[in-house]
Amino acid sequence: MNPVSCETCEKRTPERRVLFVNACVREGSRTLRLARRVLSHLEGAVTELDLEALELRPLSRETLARREALLAAGAPEDPLLAQARLFAAADEIVLAAPYWDLSFPASVKTWIEHVNCIGLSFAYGPDDRPYGLCRAKRLLYVMTAGGPILPPNDGYTYLKALCNTFYGIVETHCFAAEGLDLRAADPEAILAEAERRVDAFFEEETRQRRTPCAAPTTNP
Ligand SMILES: Cc1cc2nc3c(=O)[nH]c(=O)nc-3n(C[C@H](O)[C@H](O)[C@H](O)COP(=O)(O)O)c2cc1C
Repeated sequence: MNPVSCETCEKRTPERRVLFVNACVREGSRTLRLARRVLSHLEGAVTELDLEALELRPLSRETLARREALLAAGAPEDPLLAQARLFAAADEIVLAAPYWDLSFPASVKTWIEHVNCIGLSFAYGPDDRPYGLCRAKRLLYVMTAGGPILPPNDGYTYLKALCNTFYGIVETHCFAAEGLDLRAADPEAILAEAERRVDAFFEEETRQRRTPCAAPTTNP
């Protein structure tokens, strides 16, 4: 059996790349705290994209035309294509985004405009259907909300649709804490409970992975 096809072995691969997309802006961000808990369970080298520091610009008439020209020229290395390349090369993606205006900060939408790039993160087949060009099998979405997260949780649902439709990333999961700013709320207790749910998720995943697999082992 090829060991790379075993989830357990793949997790041990040293060059595993985790892309952490950080859309948190507030000092003492609760979303960032929850995201760090998620990251503590992942193996691999973490590349953090601080969207505030990155200052990506929404695609404009000029940058869209330039991007098309770059793609037509075989997609040479260029900062305009960097986000799509980083996204496509990651083994796992963690996106931390506070719940703003029933979805996420505008920086996330701008980042998506850069990631969603034909020929780098997805392509169209002969049947005109999109298919993914991304390495990752999973995207983990982390959010905290001041009030209740209203169904259908637009921010996460949108990311999930992009992952499933364009990027070929079939597994997505949302870790959330809500009601943090409500008058009677105990934010510390809510966050601690959300962290416990994160721990439980990964403990369950580890338990499931411990079930026997046919991967080569040095143990007798
Ligand atoms: C610009 C802005 C918009 C927000 N919009 C909402 C909202 O639509 N619904 C809600 O429940 N909370 C909303 N909140 C509250 C945040 O979701 C909440 O405080 C969250 O925990 C902030 O995450 P952070 O601590 O990581 O910054 C908003 C906060 C800000 C600053």
